[in-house]
Amino acid sequence: MPAITRVLTGITTSGTPHLGNYVGAVRPAVAASRRAGVESFYFLADYHALIKTTDPLRVQRSTLEIAATWLACGLDPERVWFYRQSDIPEIPELTWLLTCIVAKGLLNRAHAYKAAVDRNTQEHQDPDAGINAGLYMYPVLMAADILMFKAHSVPVGRDQVQHIEMARDIAMRFNHLYGGEYFVLPEAAIEAHVATLPGLDGRKMSKSYDNTIALFAPADQLKKQIAGIVTDSRLPGEPKECDNSTVFTLYQAFASAEETTAMRAAFADGIGWGDAKQKLLELISSELEPYRERYQDFITHPNIVHTALQDGATKARKIASSTMRELREIVGIGESLSRQYVGK
Ligand code: TRP
Repeated sequence: MPAITRVLTGITTSGTPHLGNYVGAVRPAVAASRRAGVESFYFLADYHALIKTTDPLRVQRSTLEIAATWLACGLDPERVWFYRQSDIPEIPELTWLLTCIVAKGLLNRAHAYKAAVDRNTQEHQDPDAGINAGLYMYPVLMAADILMFKAHSVPVGRDQVQHIEMARDIAMRFNHLYGGEYFVLPEAAIEAHVATLPGLDGRKMSKSYDNTIALFAPADQLKKQIAGIVTDSRLPGEPKECDNSTVFTLYQAFASAEETTAMRAAFADGIGWGDAKQKLLELISSELEPYRERYQDFITHPNIVHTALQDGATKARKIASSTMRELREIVGIGESLSRQYVGK
């Protein structure tokens, strides 16, 4: 490992931040950004959002909410690189260079694209019906996000691991074709103990399943949502299983080791679902309470958020523009037309 580890991750700006985003991405990322020897790059993947939605208000709203979440939860924009993907024009520029060397067959194998094709095939439609080319190119844009900043480590949920592997493939192929170590080969980093949080219905908490618990929902809404978590029908007094319980898994994601042990014992002792949910509500609220007011403050003063993102983009573009200048030379579209590029 190099002396400085570069950690980079993005969040697609197509929804309201939920507990899964917080536990899986924001909380570990903010903690990592404070570690010595780490340079963190956290960005709002708004170009990726355009693949999913054509509702401009949704993208705009989500960008503000997600940025406000990161800042409220303690991300220090002075210490990290915090920016909006679309403020870095070098990223789509790099996307094209990568597009020209990526194997089309690699993209055919991307899970998200393949799932969409399979769905069409099952419904006896044209395989590509309703699939935009953005979905197809998704992994290449993502590779550009990562390779641009020579990130070593990319914290993501399990569903994104394939994309990081593709970014590695693309980096290796570019390095091989142009004969140099231009790109760092990134690795996915998964939070081992809380990689994916279950949602209200027990499936993975995700915008696409509409089973999320909003991170900064008003207190009464949070209470209502937690009350609505699906459980089995065991009565108070009956021992309950921890391992497949959404209530328990959510609790564990916010609890200390001792609190988890105590809750495990309470489950064995037959704690009622109502009481367990009440404890879960209290635990989540106490962790989020300090951030809630700051979050509201950012939402009502979007200019502060905007300025932070602009400053972050300026900082990130210093790296991006110099990387692109070098890459343009490498592929033969650089400033020098007569001088032969001398590889490293
Ligand atoms: N595709 C990621 C997601 O939906 C978001 C993302 C975009 C990302 N670019 C990235 C994550 C680069 C890590 C690195 O979760």
